[in-house]
Amino acid sequence: MPKKTSNKTVPSLLKDQSLESIAQLIKDKKASKVIVLTGAGISTKAGIPDFRTKGTGLYDNLQKFKLPYPEAIFDMEFFEEKPEPFYALAKEIYPGKYYPTKTHYFIRLLHEKGLLLRNFTQNIDTLERLTGLPEDKIVEAHGSFATASCIECDKEAVEEDVRECVKHAKVPRCEKCDGLIKPDITFFGESLPNRFFENLDDFDEAELLIVIGTSLKVQPFASLIDSVADHVPRLLINKEMAGASNSASSGFDFKWRHKRRDVAHMDDCDTGIEKLAELLGWQDELHEMFTKGNEKLKAQWTLQDLLQENKEEEEGESVKKEEEDEEIIALAEDLEKRLEVNKEESSDQKEGKEKRKEEKQPSKNNL
Ligand code: OAD
Ligand code: ZN
Repeated sequence: MPKKTSNKTVPSLLKDQSLESIAQLIKDKKASKVIVLTGAGISTKAGIPDFRTKGTGLYDNLQKFKLPYPEAIFDMEFFEEKPEPFYALAKEIYPGKYYPTKTHYFIRLLHEKGLLLRNFTQNIDTLERLTGLPEDKIVEAHGSFATASCIECDKEAVEEDVRECVKHAKVPRCEKCDGLIKPDITFFGESLPNRFFENLDDFDEAELLIVIGTSLKVQPFASLIDSVADHVPRLLINKEMAGASNSASSGFDFKWRHKRRDVAHMDDCDTGIEKLAELLGWQDELHEMFTKGNEKLKAQWTLQDLLQENKEEEEGESVKKEEEDEEIIALAEDLEKRLEVNKEESSDQKEGKEKRKEEKQPSKNNL
């Protein structure tokens, strides 16, 4: 990724490394072209695991898939030989049952306020689209489950057919050449979608970069943070540190050694985003957009499920069941169990921590 260096030295407009400072920039209309970079961390609250968090991340829970290495689940050669593990994963994380989070809706709100230049996301879960954010504002840098095509002849598959196959644990095949159908997700070794490259000029225009829920471990996406001009403020909202470096030319400089423009807000992303929304005076709008948006989705999906059930009853569901691939079902069930256990563990751990905190901090009455 080419690094953008501005010709003149423009000082950053940030006063200090606080969320308040970032909010002030927006309120003062000094950051009206915002690029948001996102990763799997913004969808964990929706119930979709991220990839690299120890214990709960997907890559730590694929034992049963007997992969040569965890990332092989997104490897083209492996997929061509053995597509079942990918389809077991697809069955678990396929769009249609997960709702966008407050962070997703905040990006839509930025758009409604006329401030969003683009959301570049690494996520394949399509939750950005579900908020109602127009497609032209989204760059799905690693593709998504929204479309699928044949790996032999490139023929685009019918979305409904692929969805049905995934639901019934079957590997979809091309109706033209019988080749394997793969959702248009960028596998390792594949080139990123054209839309990614076509929109890189945005970075020349950006006045604020917000990076949320990503470990910034995968290139070329990770280097996008270096593509904005040198004075442009950059905010990271993430549970853990990501993308920090000592270099003057790449990575975040949270120690303000070179430029005084990077802010790290280490927090759960929804909590951080709610705080930012509050500082901007947008909290009620965000809450309403989130609640109404997800209520509408729920109604839509309930109706779709009912229609589908009717259709399947008419077609004779029993025939379909017999055709299900037992290997995919077993792998998907194992994954579901593991991820459920992780969810329970992490909420137990959280409760435990909260309790310990209460024990350590006597209430005011006790003082
Ligand atoms: P990772 O799993 O690498 O990173 C997710 C980051 O989000 C981690 O730093 C977590 O600490 C953080 N995180 C998790 N939950 C959070 C929460 N509730 N609040 C705040 N932070 C949270 O995921 P990505 O960076 O998105 O490729 O991974 C990049 C790519 O690697 C993915 O697109 C995927 C994978 O291989 C494909 O799907 C093709
Ligand atoms: Zn084909």
